Amino acid sequence: MTHLINVSDLSPQEIEAYFDQAQRFADELSSGAFYSEALKGKIILSMFFENSTRTRTSFDIAAKRLGASVVHWDPENSSMKKDESLLDTVQTLAAMKPDAIIVRHSEYNAPRFIAGHVDCPVINAGDSYRAHPTQALLDALTIKQVMGHLEGVTVAICGDVAHSRVANSNFALLDKLGVKLRVIAPKSLMPESFSVQGIETYTSFADGLPGCDIVMMLRIQKERMDASAIPNDAAYFADYGLTHDKLALTGKTSYVMHPGPMNRGVEISHELADDPKLSLVTKQVANGIPLRMAVLQSVCQSVS
Ligand code: NCD
Repeated sequence: MTHLINVSDLSPQEIEAYFDQAQRFADELSSGAFYSEALKGKIILSMFFENSTRTRTSFDIAAKRLGASVVHWDPENSSMKKDESLLDTVQTLAAMKPDAIIVRHSEYNAPRFIAGHVDCPVINAGDSYRAHPTQALLDALTIKQVMGHLEGVTVAICGDVAHSRVANSNFALLDKLGVKLRVIAPKSLMPESFSVQGIETYTSFADGLPGCDIVMMLRIQKERMDASAIPNDAAYFADYGLTHDKLALTGKTSYVMHPGPMNRGVEISHELADDPKLSLVTKQVANGIPLRMAVLQSVCQSVS
């Protein structure tokens, strides 16, 4: 049985298989409404302990495109509000025999903990500031589509890197795939260390952007930090908000990404976020569906 907890657990062959299957689904989705019965009769349990628009909805749509049903468990209306523990909650839900569980949680390794107490596949939909494997996979798929390949592409990941699970999973995944990684962040939002070797670090766009193909902006994770770590929004935007002028520092045609939700006028200008040629934000969201279809199909079919 296969879980998807961290990208570091994936072999290059498994990553390629996800990309190939996701691209097949993407092609089919682009040629009209797609429906398959590959997961007909499967029941997917969705457990989101943190808010979400993109990830939760795209898992739902992905599951339904493959014929599965989705059941949402909502912490706010659950017996955890009557002090039931996470373990008792998980064991209770596992006794109902879902075919797979999707988990988002603010605690590091909660998805792995849950995987240890259920007998179905578990997919990590984002935990703490450490891991967001399906976001990294859909980001890498998006870069591959736009650049034609991943090996040798230069990607700068910018902003609140210290508190970003998107950044952490992208470092682990893109490094495995031969991408050259840079980080551009103020000192207060720069991690003390990285899980992979060889990342170039910069504290300004002027130093870090020249030569970059892809500039990935990140939301400031105010919920995961002391507010004193960042200046006010206007001052942050002046130094670390991406605009067309700053993107031009790459010296080539380069593209901007953002996992969303975006704080316009803080991390990125309105104009750049909405630029149909240079912004890949909508493409990232769209790729969430075929990528999560590939993941759901693979983990559900891994159960013998
Ligand atoms: C991110 C998340 O929740 O980790 N969003 C997403 O899943 N697309 C990023 C964020 O919240 O800033």
